Amino acid sequence: MRILITGASGFIGFHLINKLLKNHEVYGIDSYSNNYDISLKKERYQKTVKDNYFFFEQNIRNIKLPNVKFDLAINLAAQPGVRVDKSKEYLYRETNEEGFIKFCNFCIERNIKKIIYASSSSVYSDDGEEKFKESHTLLRPKSLYGKSKLENEKYASYLAYKEDISIIGLRFFSVYGPFGRPDMAYYSFARSLMNNEKIILNNYGTMARDMTYIDDIISGVISSFKLITEEKTKFKNEIFNLGNDSPVMVVDLLKEIEKQLSLKAAVIHAHTNNESKYTHADITKAKKILGYKPETSIDIGMKKFLEWCKKYERK
Ligand SMILES: NC(=O)c1ccc[n+]([C@@H]2O[C@H](COP(=O)([O-])OP(=O)(O)OC[C@H]3O[C@@H](n4cnc5c(N)ncnc54)[C@H](O)[C@@H]3O)[C@@H](O)[C@H]2O)c1
Repeated sequence: MRILITGASGFIGFHLINKLLKNHEVYGIDSYSNNYDISLKKERYQKTVKDNYFFFEQNIRNIKLPNVKFDLAINLAAQPGVRVDKSKEYLYRETNEEGFIKFCNFCIERNIKKIIYASSSSVYSDDGEEKFKESHTLLRPKSLYGKSKLENEKYASYLAYKEDISIIGLRFFSVYGPFGRPDMAYYSFARSLMNNEKIILNNYGTMARDMTYIDDIISGVISSFKLITEEKTKFKNEIFNLGNDSPVMVVDLLKEIEKQLSLKAAVIHAHTNNESKYTHADITKAKKILGYKPETSIDIGMKKFLEWCKKYERK
């Protein structure tokens, strides 16, 4: 099959493309946005170069690709994360909301009838104490980022019924692993420890995150890909949680990293109120329909991540 992937040089895009290139032709686009070290994005690209991979440095707001027929398009491009500098907040609207609509318009123009897109656990309200369930949990994002992802879901739902297409939205939960995003807590904890720098710990590390290892996420995306491209697929618009169903308190995450590096953190405490108190995926639906089965515990996943940090001197 021929697949279009946006955010191709990003963390999830890189791992997904590596997997898909074994059997498919991939067209990737990425604008190399400067939300973190661009050299890491370029390094990921270098590691995906292959005869059946075609890369274009482009913005999803203005996609221009050769006139080939795509079987499927996957949108991963975004301004990710809930914490950005105020001066960059406009990107939630410009990239995540408007960019997603432009990406969908491109798919419609090019007669691409199958679409998968990245949503997030940040669309949920964390007011209850239960797991986040696709059909039950209140959708009330605390952040502009979460709001932008919820807008994607609303637009996808509108489009699926207006056009003759099938769409899957994947609500990812705190994805981590080798080639990960330096702006995420686990990565910045590890980097600060290795560089002997102080660590800012929000809310005494009492927040919990359903940390999900990249390989588990990729297997969930591949299962969604299989489901949507099956000949007999009839659904229009589906949403799945892809998490680990095993939240970790941020303070325990830090302890795990300290233990594995045999280092002790110097902590500065801070307070924030625009982040979820906890995230916890109910993965019943993904298990049942996609056969999704996350397998990586935090100690094993973190070990693989830290080995990568050392090997690639990614501090
Ligand atoms: N990593 C996580 O824990 C997580 C959790 C929930 C949701 N998500 C979502 O998954 C997707 C992938 O996340 P990631 O962790 O790989 O992030 P990432 O930042 O590593 O990857 C996103 C890529 O999109 C590119 N990009 C940004 N704006 C663009 C634009 N206008 N046009 C083209 N490319 C653009 C960036 O350069 C980057 O390479 C995002 O949509 C993100 O919101 C990620």
